[in-house]
Amino acid sequence: MLTLGSALTIDDLQILARRRVPKLFYDYADSGALTEQTYGMNRSDYTRILLRQRVARALSNRTLKTKIVGEDVSMPMALSPTGMTGMQHADGEMLAARAAEKAGVPFALSTMSICSIEDVKSVTTKPFWFQLYVMRDHDFVKSLLDRAKAAGVSALVLTMDLQLIAQRHKDHRNALSAPPKLMPKHLMQMATRPMWCLRMLGTHRHTFRNIVGHAKGVDDLGSLHGWTNSQFDPELSWKDVAWIKDYWGGKLIIKGVMDVEDAKAAVDTGADALIVSNHGGRQLDGTCSSIRMLPPVVDAVGKDIEVHVDGGIRTGIDMMRALALGAKATWIGRPFLYGLGAGGEAGVAKSIEILRQELDMTMAFCGEREVTKVGPHNLLEVGFAPFSRGGQLPE
Ligand SMILES: Cc1cc2nc3c(=O)[nH]c(=O)nc-3n(C[C@H](O)[C@H](O)[C@H](O)COP(=O)(O)O)c2cc1C
Repeated sequence: MLTLGSALTIDDLQILARRRVPKLFYDYADSGALTEQTYGMNRSDYTRILLRQRVARALSNRTLKTKIVGEDVSMPMALSPTGMTGMQHADGEMLAARAAEKAGVPFALSTMSICSIEDVKSVTTKPFWFQLYVMRDHDFVKSLLDRAKAAGVSALVLTMDLQLIAQRHKDHRNALSAPPKLMPKHLMQMATRPMWCLRMLGTHRHTFRNIVGHAKGVDDLGSLHGWTNSQFDPELSWKDVAWIKDYWGGKLIIKGVMDVEDAKAAVDTGADALIVSNHGGRQLDGTCSSIRMLPPVVDAVGKDIEVHVDGGIRTGIDMMRALALGAKATWIGRPFLYGLGAGGEAGVAKSIEILRQELDMTMAFCGEREVTKVGPHNLLEVGFAPFSRGGQLPE
């Protein structure tokens, strides 16, 4: 029988998570926008990148250690910001942050998290990262940044691709709202996941704790629903990035870049890094996979800024492929969420260890000892052609 102990792959953790997390929350993680075409390609495009096997290379004393935005990490990986993580497992963000800290990789807390900045601070000993969604209420944005600074957050991740929220059919069918409003069918789904329910009864963290009680006029769940729908700022522009960067005054990572022109604009802001990301296929359906957009972005701005990538990474092989294509860091969303749903903190730790071992082994078979030396020479073939349009307008 598959258990956390016998799980060998991220896919095993996903099977366990599906068994242990109520359907509406499991589906919330395992879904993309509209037809889910881009969500699917985020994964399948990785199989089109072939690695170059080498032999008779000295392979002892291997290391995955590197730096991400100047911070020492045990491997080039970070945990992506994910909303409502505390619904995959009680106190999810606190558990994931602790697992990441123990594993020596960064954890980025979402604005739309269940556990607050202060909750995560209370269970960690080193700085974590914070992801910002820009709201219309700039005073509230400033107060979030103040709280992040007070908690010792060492890098800000500014998400640029969710000023409107795409339709994800599964969430509609499940009647999932933010924050969740329980209906009879949800209670039926929960009744089949008794351990999840017990743990939820054991915590008081059930709402968006970065927001409730902090944003003006948001003191309870009822008002928060309307507030969320009306508050994401559809006018977000690069000018806003300038004032946010100024106000923040620390390291800045721009998330959600899928275009060479936008990558250049991100460089112009003076940010420390950008993440080539399509939000895990959850926003613009019909665009390409993020890994496919990585090479043109690296070509255009890789010398000027750290380029990272997320979306579809499920193995250490995928991480190796992304690093070989020029990513300085790889981010994982669902892999750690599945670990969390499968087994709380131990499950997140397991997801990180699975990927660490797979990356180490893959790197060795490619004849590399140091992850910082991985590059295009480790590739045999990249099975997608350069874009004919390259993001330019038609003539
Ligand atoms: C359930 C879920 C919630 C997410 N919430 C956020 C969020 O609050 N902020 C954000 O910037 N990105 C969010 N994302 C996107 C992730 O940060 C990341 O870009 C994506 O998960 C990467 O793809 P992967 O899941 O295939 O690794 C979310 C993704 C998932 C799956």
